[in-house]
Amino acid sequence: MAFRNSEQALREGVPFFSQAASFERQWPRTAARIHEVFDDGKFSHGAQVAALERELADYTGAGFVIGVNSGTDALVLLLRACGLRPGDEVLVPAYSFVATASSVVLAGGRPRFVDIDPASYAMDPAALRAEITGDSRFVMPTHLFHQQADMAAIGSIAAAHGLTVVEDSAEAIGMRQGGEHAGLHGRGGVLSFFPSKTLGAIGDAGAVLTHDPEVAQTVAALRHHGRFGRTLAHFPGISEETVLPGVNSKMDDFQAAVLRARLPELDAAIRRRAELAAAYGKRLRAIPEVRRLPAPFPTSDDSRGVFYVYLVEVEERDELVARLADEGIGTETYYPVPLHLQPCFAELGYGPGRFPVAEAASGRAVALPLYPDLTERQLELVCDRIAAFYQERRR
Ligand SMILES: Cc1ncc(COP(=O)(O)O)c(C=O)c1O
Repeated sequence: MAFRNSEQALREGVPFFSQAASFERQWPRTAARIHEVFDDGKFSHGAQVAALERELADYTGAGFVIGVNSGTDALVLLLRACGLRPGDEVLVPAYSFVATASSVVLAGGRPRFVDIDPASYAMDPAALRAEITGDSRFVMPTHLFHQQADMAAIGSIAAAHGLTVVEDSAEAIGMRQGGEHAGLHGRGGVLSFFPSKTLGAIGDAGAVLTHDPEVAQTVAALRHHGRFGRTLAHFPGISEETVLPGVNSKMDDFQAAVLRARLPELDAAIRRRAELAAAYGKRLRAIPEVRRLPAPFPTSDDSRGVFYVYLVEVEERDELVARLADEGIGTETYYPVPLHLQPCFAELGYGPGRFPVAEAASGRAVALPLYPDLTERQLELVCDRIAAFYQERRR
C-alpha cells in the first residue's frame, strides 16, 4: 500500500510532521484490525476499545485505562471524577497547551497559574509552593515535549497542603519516573492520541489512566451519559441506571483499531525519536545562537523521557521560522501565548510579567521536525539551513 502524501513529503522539503511511511508499513496490520471492526459491526465503544484499554493498561502499568474521544475530554472527566467542586482552585503551569487550563474551567474549577522551570518547561515546584491559597484543591502539572515535571517534589508539596494531584500527561506516553508511567503519580492522568502524538490515531481520541477504581468507574460512567453499565470491562455487574449527568465521550472503534495496530511499534518509534534527537543535539550544539537545547533527562530502568517534540530556544525565533518555511521546512512554535495571557482567561486578572519564565519560553521556543519517518538526510537539511541562517546574520 502506497500513500500519495508519503511521496509528497519527500519531494517537498521537510514537513513538520509526517507518518505516511509508517502507515504504509503498518497497513496490513491496520487493515486486519479495521476488518475486525466491520465484522463486529460495532463502531463506537465496542470490542476494539475494550481491547485497547487492556493493552494500554499492560503498556503503562495502570490499574485502569478508560478510552474517551480526546485528551481534552479525558482531562475534564478526570477532574470531575476526582471530585472537583465548583470554584475549586486547580494549580496549573502558565506554559502549556490551552486545554490544560480550559479543562479546569469546563469541569467547573478555577485555574491558578504557576511559573515553569526553564529546563523542563514543567511546573516549578518552588513556584508552586508560593501560589497555593486557601481555595487550592488540586495541582495538575503538565509533562511537555520530552520530559516530566518533578513529580516527587510536587507530590510532597501537594501532600503537605492536602492537594489532589492529577497529571496532564497528554504528551507523555512512554515516559516514566521513579517506576511509574506518567499519569500514575497521583490520582490519575490522561493520554492524547491526536494524530501527531507519539502514539497517534487517525482522528481524535484520548484516555484516562488511573490506579483508583472509584475514579475509573466514575470516568467510565461520565463518558457514557453517566451510565454505570456497559462501561468498563473491569466492572461488569454495575447497573444501567444514570446516576451522574455525563457526556458522550465514547471512543470510536476505528481509532482504537488503528491504535492497536500501532502499539506494538511504539517502543521502536520511541527509540528512533531518541536517535534523531541525539543527532540534532550533535549538530546544533555547534551553533552558539541556538541558546537552549533539550535538557538531558535521567535514564534508568524505572525512569525515562520520550522525545515527543524536539524543542530549542532562539532569540530570533520568528525570523528563523519564516526563513525555514520559505525553504520548505516545517516548524511549530510551542506555545506562542502563555496561558495567563490567553484572552479566554482574562477574567482571572493576570497581566504580562507575572510569569517571566513562561513568557520567555513563549517568545523563544520552536520545535523542529522529529518523527520516526524523518530521514537522516532531512535532519541534516534542517540543521544546514539553521546554520546558514546564522552564518548570514553574523556577516
Ligand atoms: C499538554 C496537552 N494537554 C492536553 C491536550 C489535549 O489533547 P487532545 O488534543 O487530544 O484533546 C494536548 C494535546 O493536544 C496536550 O499537548
